[in-house]
Amino acid sequence: MYGRIFACLLVLFGVRSSVCSLPCDYIDSVNITDGERLPNDEIRHNGVIYNKTYYRMIDYEYEDFATKKYVPNYIRGCLCAVRICVRLCCGEREYLGRKCTHSDGYLPVVVNVSATEMIDLRNHSLYGFLYGKPCEQVYELLPEENPVDEWSIARNGSLIIADELLVPRNQYCLAPRLNTSYASGLVCFTSTEEFKYNLYPVAIISIWCHLLHRQLDNGNGTVATDYGDGL
Ligand SMILES: *[C@@H]1O[C@H](CO)[C@@H](O)[C@H](O)[C@H]1NC(C)=O
Ligand SMILES: *[C@@H]1O[C@H](CO)[C@@H](O)[C@H](O)[C@H]1NC(C)=O
Ligand SMILES: *[C@@H]1O[C@H](CO)[C@@H](O)[C@H](O)[C@H]1NC(C)=O
Ligand SMILES: *[C@@H]1O[C@H](CO)[C@@H](O)[C@H](O)[C@H]1NC(C)=O
Ligand SMILES: *[C@@H]1O[C@H](CO)[C@@H](O)[C@H](O)[C@H]1NC(C)=O
Ligand SMILES: *[C@@H]1O[C@H](CO)[C@@H](O)[C@H](O)[C@H]1NC(C)=O
Ligand SMILES: *[C@@H]1O[C@H](CO)[C@@H](O)[C@H](O)[C@H]1NC(C)=O
Repeated sequence: MYGRIFACLLVLFGVRSSVCSLPCDYIDSVNITDGERLPNDEIRHNGVIYNKTYYRMIDYEYEDFATKKYVPNYIRGCLCAVRICVRLCCGEREYLGRKCTHSDGYLPVVVNVSATEMIDLRNHSLYGFLYGKPCEQVYELLPEENPVDEWSIARNGSLIIADELLVPRNQYCLAPRLNTSYASGLVCFTSTEEFKYNLYPVAIISIWCHLLHRQLDNGNGTVATDYGDGL
């Protein structure tokens, strides 16, 4: 928040012309440069239509959402402004094996929505995908092994574990697997200060305890579900 105000002040002083132009958080946007140009300055990318309000030409990107890098001009669209956006841990045509793996086949992203409906998000016009894990380390939820890991996606794109822990978008990601009926849900181990201290203090403590338990349970000193380096 303050960072952005500061960035905009810099612009006022002529340091950089396009710093505050994206009308949404960078993390909630996608590169739509190769989208199809439609009349009225609209752009269609991956089946999603962005009107002029929701995209900008910018000249920067963030590596790991942290390090700003200036790049040649390109166009980013605010996906989360026009779709319920859900983040996939891997790329568009990748599934999670031991690590993200390319596949030419159709990779459904089947999840429970609102705990009641089983939906392939890839084949549903309300949803759109962001790509790449949102944090350094994610841990996989394992509902087949532990019922308290059962999760579903809320109508607003948050992930809900065991009907009670709320994990907002950008604190988790999903990954299609081969030969499983559901996509995997992976939750950030560490979270942002905002998440930790302001929004959901109870939830984050539970997640920590939950994860510590899992590490201790696996008595051989290896953390079986740590994908920190694998993704
Ligand atoms: C955006 O997408 C275009 C077309 O796919 C690509 O050429 C360009 O390098 C991308 N830019 C960034 C910063 O990702
Ligand atoms: C873009 O779409 C939104 C809602 O879908 C609408 O409120 C807005 O006026 C549109 N902007 C333009 C420039 O067409
Ligand atoms: C989406 O689902 C419909 C109906 O089940 C099916 O006909 C269509 O081929 C699916 N689309 C994709 C991309 O799988
Ligand atoms: C989805 O719901 C079904 C039925 O309640 C449950 O068996 C399954 O484990 C759930 N899937 C996930 C990924 O939690
Ligand atoms: C999203 O939906 C869930 C369940 O309906 C709700 O508890 C939560 O407050 C909503 N908002 C966010 C930002 O997750
Ligand atoms: C998935 O199933 C296919 C055939 O059903 C099999 O050939 C393949 O080895 C399986 N892959 C994994 C990772 O189990
Ligand atoms: C720990 O290692 C032993 C021997 O390598 C193995 O038999 C056992 O199943 C392992 N336990 C766990 C929880 O991985």
